[in-house]
Amino acid sequence: MFDSGVGGLTVLRALIERIPGANYLYFGDTARLPYGSKSAATVAHYAVDAVRYLQDQGAELLVIACNTATALALDEIKRAASVPVIGVIEPGADAAAKASKKKHAVVIGTEATVASHAYRRALETRNVRVREKACPLFVPLVEEGWIEHPVTEQVAKIYLAEAFASDFGSPEVRHPDDAGAADVLLLGCTHYPLIKPLLRRVAPAHITIVDSAESTAEEVARQLKLMPRPRSDNSDEIAAPPQLKFFATDSAEKFRKMGTRFLGLPVENVVHVDLKE
Ligand code: DGL
Repeated sequence: MFDSGVGGLTVLRALIERIPGANYLYFGDTARLPYGSKSAATVAHYAVDAVRYLQDQGAELLVIACNTATALALDEIKRAASVPVIGVIEPGADAAAKASKKKHAVVIGTEATVASHAYRRALETRNVRVREKACPLFVPLVEEGWIEHPVTEQVAKIYLAEAFASDFGSPEVRHPDDAGAADVLLLGCTHYPLIKPLLRRVAPAHITIVDSAESTAEEVARQLKLMPRPRSDNSDEIAAPPQLKFFATDSAEKFRKMGTRFLGLPVENVVHVDLKE
């Protein structure tokens, strides 16, 4: 599993709940995050380095847990990989399309994810109208640990009021993607599952929240079950503890500390990796 940092551990957490006994390698590119404010070329370059590293470590299935990397670089990652690759956008869009009765969703994510319109494209092919809203302050607030915090709540109120306003952007112009009719809020960033209870309180009551971490874990679990395994391996039937190994491009100790909060399990076995340019 690959992410720009610790955020993707929300996807790993959802996956471990479904397939506890698998052997997981997780790569967090903590030295080069955030990806959410970077260009497509830079993100693709970083992500391809990281997935090559995971493949060299023996990964048989690659999960791009990072919404920004999936949005900006999934095709390049697939070209560089020789094993199956799953990103977060298709499973997220699928779940949102299923959840939306009115076929109208609001997607929130980083600046780069929103500017790529990758979620918009994925949802429009499923006949769902979309409004996208960048929420760049959420990532630093979550990393600060301000999960249930008045500042985060205030920021969420401002972002979501804008995202669900009937006249998005200029007050004179009513946009065709008017979100007054939206009935789904799709969380298109690794960090947002941690503030889901807060977003639930702040979002309009009729809105269903769809979490791309959960839908991706669902899809990965489905594919893992289809993959050939050693005959002796019945590890997902008996609740064997997961085998976890982590790689981080910045301090292993920092990853261990912050990662434990995102994973909800102790993060041990962290190896520092120096990816040469
Ligand atoms: N992992 C990124 C995402 O899901 C958020 C953090 C970053 O900007 O690197 O978009």
